[in-house]
Amino acid sequence: MAEEDMQRRSETEAIMERLCEKMRRVCRKNKGKIPYTTDENGDYDDRADTSVEWPMDDGINWWTNGFWGGLMWLMYIETGEKEFREAAEISEKQLDRCFEMFYGIHHDVGFMYMPTAVMDHRITGNEESRKRGMHAASLLAGRFNPAGNFIRAWNENYGGDPTGRAIIDCMMNLSLLYWATEERQDPRFRHIAEAHAHTVMKYFVREDGSVCHIVDFDPETGAYISDEGGQGFGKGSSWSRGQAWAMYGFTVSYLHTGKKEYLDTAEKVAGYCISCLPESGIVPVDFRQPESPAWEDSCAAVILASGLLTLSGCAGQDRSETYRSAAEKLILTISRERADFGTGCDAVVQNCSAAYHDARHHFPMIYADYFYTEALLRLKGAELPVW
Ligand code: GLY
Repeated sequence: MAEEDMQRRSETEAIMERLCEKMRRVCRKNKGKIPYTTDENGDYDDRADTSVEWPMDDGINWWTNGFWGGLMWLMYIETGEKEFREAAEISEKQLDRCFEMFYGIHHDVGFMYMPTAVMDHRITGNEESRKRGMHAASLLAGRFNPAGNFIRAWNENYGGDPTGRAIIDCMMNLSLLYWATEERQDPRFRHIAEAHAHTVMKYFVREDGSVCHIVDFDPETGAYISDEGGQGFGKGSSWSRGQAWAMYGFTVSYLHTGKKEYLDTAEKVAGYCISCLPESGIVPVDFRQPESPAWEDSCAAVILASGLLTLSGCAGQDRSETYRSAAEKLILTISRERADFGTGCDAVVQNCSAAYHDARHHFPMIYADYFYTEALLRLKGAELPVW
């Protein structure tokens, strides 16, 4: 092995050791919570807190609520320590309240149930978890609009008329439908996933490999109405996390179906993303944002990294190396410049941004820690039972 490769490998090992050390502490301190972000003291919040009156789409229905459990499963895979598994199992059961509430549930059940119930079922064979996964998959399938062949993203509480609205993020939720088909030997779920993926190829993916965030369709006729900048800078821009969801999502669609058009689309988006990555390795919120303010999104960086590592396992030899080395650079940059392994903050990955035009930027988000860990494990060669 070349000297440089060996150095990188031992750096990855050292980072993983520091991560495990921190996560043992964080797990002990936060067991029973479902965190999204930290407060001014660096303490995790709790989306499962029943004493708070949450808006319908927040609280237990918040779209990131699967990532704490998923992070705990990843740590269990790495260490085999039962504290992590217990924390994951607690959060999976807490999510049962979403099924009871129903109206707050949305298309992000993939993000919520793949890293919790489905990962649990794949690791332990737990039948209760399988049922939870199937229930969530049925809810996702129920959001499909056959007039326009798209899965409706959000509910009324997001403002405007969301009945004909689809968003790029949903490409990652499709894995729940593929899983359901594989579990039940019933192609209905896969048909819906593929119909949606084709709509995304047609209306979201641009010629240059960039993607838009939101597309509105007429929910009666299915006709295309317009596309929107969404969480990115604006119309025609290129929200970096959206590019990551698209690249990773099409890679996952390829892995479940073997269809080359999905692999080609993932590679087209990957090529575009790599061409946009700055020399610094720090990822902006939008690849087409103005130079100032220079808002960053570490979350986009780690999702891109994990997606590129997954893609590198499917692509031809020459491109595979390109994807892997881009991913490695992203993860090493986060580890050296944006990771907090200390005790002052519950989260590791810093400087995430939910949306370009939000008032708040550069804060921790639970899914950044999840995808950072996923990418580190993939760099170490792990095969992960998720997506
Ligand atoms: N799926 C919503 C986001 O990436 O912010």
